[in-house]
Amino acid sequence: MPLAGDYSAAMTEPAAKPETLFPSPQRDTPEFDAQFQGRLEDLIHWRRDVRRFRADPVEDALIDDLIGLATRSPSVDNSQPWRFVKVTDPGRRADVIKNFKACNADALADYEGAQAQRYATLKLAGLKEATVHLAVFCETETAAGHGLGRKTMPEMLCYSVVGAVNTLWLAARSRGLGMGWV
Ligand SMILES: Cc1cc2nc3c(=O)[nH]c(=O)nc-3n(C[C@H](O)[C@H](O)[C@H](O)COP(=O)(O)O)c2cc1C
Repeated sequence: MPLAGDYSAAMTEPAAKPETLFPSPQRDTPEFDAQFQGRLEDLIHWRRDVRRFRADPVEDALIDDLIGLATRSPSVDNSQPWRFVKVTDPGRRADVIKNFKACNADALADYEGAQAQRYATLKLAGLKEATVHLAVFCETETAAGHGLGRKTMPEMLCYSVVGAVNTLWLAARSRGLGMGWV
């Protein structure tokens, strides 16, 4: 059974195009003209780590669409080690926030004086306000692939996941949705 977003079959036949909420007319033979290049630059500049959110509901189908796009990211050995979990249970959301607060208090304890004061003023998370929480994991024991590249550098699995998060981030911003790492 292929993983979600497993396009390795593309080695033998064209990959089926994912369903998308926003089908692009340029999906078949895209032409990345100067206007597109400019817009892409805008997107890259406007991605940003967002920690203040409006409370508007977000369509679940949009989140699925974004995750689908993120799974088109490159990964070592095409191992696709990303695992996206939607955290919807209020108790789990509260646990995530509790965990952040504990880690943040630990981090604060490492600073002193003016730096500690400055750190304490930083808004480093939007977990409480965010409508959607995604927990993103790296499957370090994935059986996908044949170990290429990651045998010598196993950390490449986690790097691959970070790359996928960046794709998700850009895709979210392109669809008017702000995203923060924490
Ligand atoms: C791998 C990674 C880990 C990050 N970890 C944190 C974090 O623990 N806390 C946080 O507030 N932001 C975190 N960020 C967000 C960065 O602080 C943010 O991307 C950086 O300050 C640049 O700002 P920008 O994303 O708005 O351009 C992380 C970003 C990446 C890529």
